[in-house]
Amino acid sequence: MTDFPFRPQEIHSQAEQDSTIQLTIDYIRKTLEGAEGGHDWWHIFRVWKMAQRIAETEAADPLVVQLGALLHDIADVKFNDGDEKAGPRMAGEFLVSIGVADETIEHVQRIIENISFKGGKEVRQFRSAELDIVQDADRLDALGAIGIARTFNYGGYRNREIYNPGIKPDLHMNKEAYYSSKAPTLNHFYEKLLLLKDRMNTSTGRKMAQHRHDFMLKYLDEFYSEWEGII
Ligand code: ADP
Ligand code: NI
Repeated sequence: MTDFPFRPQEIHSQAEQDSTIQLTIDYIRKTLEGAEGGHDWWHIFRVWKMAQRIAETEAADPLVVQLGALLHDIADVKFNDGDEKAGPRMAGEFLVSIGVADETIEHVQRIIENISFKGGKEVRQFRSAELDIVQDADRLDALGAIGIARTFNYGGYRNREIYNPGIKPDLHMNKEAYYSSKAPTLNHFYEKLLLLKDRMNTSTGRKMAQHRHDFMLKYLDEFYSEWEGII
């Protein structure tokens, strides 16, 4: 496991950091124009804000947290023919072009490489406080009311069934099966969303995840009651 003991704020002044963040926002908004509604700029914006909020209670480098959050979905594997190297590569090229220090770039790339759920069966190869924070922020956006909205938007984007009582959730998918799954959207709640609350890294993240988790359980109860015509 790699460790990152350095502190990039010692490398970049506050003014440099502010300008780096603004340039990154401009770049990501442009790159994600026309993206699927659950993985667009507004997803990035929410993750960026949430990551900063979680970071208030953790010891972490704010520049790495913000850049990791802003760039974490720059070239999502799902939308790039399974190319896992595309995201870190694009982020790296961009950050080099605006003069960010090598160590900062490398750490942001490790975050992008390691943030994804991928069916939940992969062992995380890298650990840092900054990755913990960005991953929690990204996971929180998969939960609760927004999580539900994103999930059905993605299902619609892929033209999936909303629900099919004859197709049961598969909790044992490897990475390939997870990405190629054509299962109804409701299955995704059991295959991923409801598993996330037990995988949170930070105590702030865990608390918020529990609240959003409970809301999803209520939603599912309503869904099945309506499906059966009970209410
Ligand atoms: P990760 O990269 O951590 O695996 P994703 O980017 O795949 O996360 O998922 C982000 C969000 O996209 C999910 O929380 C969900 O809302 C939506 N999504 C992804 N895969 C599916 C799916 N198979 N069915 C429905 N929604 C999905
Ligand atoms: Ni994301």
